[in-house]
Amino acid sequence: MSYQSLEIDISRQVARVWMNRPELHNAFDETLIRELTEAFTQLEGDSGVRVIVLGGRGKSFSAGADLNWMKRAAAYTIEENLRDARALANMLKTIDCMSKPTVARVHGAALGGGTGLVSVCDIAIASAQASFATTEVKLGIIPGAISPYVGAAIGERAVRRYFLTAERFDAQEAHRLGMVHEVCAPDALDAHIEQVVASLLAGGPKAQAAAKDLIRAVVNRPVDDALIDDTSARIANIRATPEAKDGISAFLEKRKPGWVDQ
Ligand code: COA
Repeated sequence: MSYQSLEIDISRQVARVWMNRPELHNAFDETLIRELTEAFTQLEGDSGVRVIVLGGRGKSFSAGADLNWMKRAAAYTIEENLRDARALANMLKTIDCMSKPTVARVHGAALGGGTGLVSVCDIAIASAQASFATTEVKLGIIPGAISPYVGAAIGERAVRRYFLTAERFDAQEAHRLGMVHEVCAPDALDAHIEQVVASLLAGGPKAQAAAKDLIRAVVNRPVDDALIDDTSARIANIRATPEAKDGISAFLEKRKPGWVDQ
């Protein structure tokens, strides 16, 4: 597939999705939103891809919603506005619901919707020069579509501050809050991404998909009988799968499992 605002390189089971509107710091308009949704949907179904890394070309990861697009949207009817807002929410949900591991490669600015994109990826690695903010209230709007994901990433206490003040925070603060997992020197960013990708490729692909499903099913749920029944059924079912049999035998036989490049 060819894209106007994205570049995708696929090599050795890893897809690198680059937002490619560098002149606008990868701010997203309807085209980039549509293309991200289509690209992640397509990569989900591509059996040759196991891990997806999302990054931005140019100086920034993403400056969030394209404010020219937002300005145009102000003249839309309420139905057109709703359709646009749903497209953005759907793009974030598509990435959030991927069964394959996703990694955000964060450099430069990650603002507004850019913090949403960081938060919907499973793992986020940031350059020490990255900066973050949910700037929406400064523009007279709210961080609507991103709020469930940013809230899940950094918690209610932190979003109360940052959604209201729109203050910038640096990569160290993003790390402290839990928005990113790791902060590294800018010139070490790709090496750190490669390390995480290597760890992901060493895991069983079906197990990773099942682990993501498990996280969605258990996090923030009360540990009641229904939840215990659910987690017991999940582990019982997965033990019998060919991937689990191979993984456990490979460990005991001191060999690599079938899913790892031999
Ligand atoms: N939407 C539309 N255009 C944007 C944009 C956005 N979200 N973010 C940046 N741009 C444009 C700027 O208007 C500028 O356009 P111009 O060259 O026609 O003047 C261009 O990108 C470069 O931005 P500039 O501000 O000159 O670069 P910078 O390096 O000084 O700062 C940012 C970069 C991203 C920190 C700064 O542009 C910024 O704060 N952008 C607003 C981001 C924001 O609040 N996003 C949330 C939206 S909900």
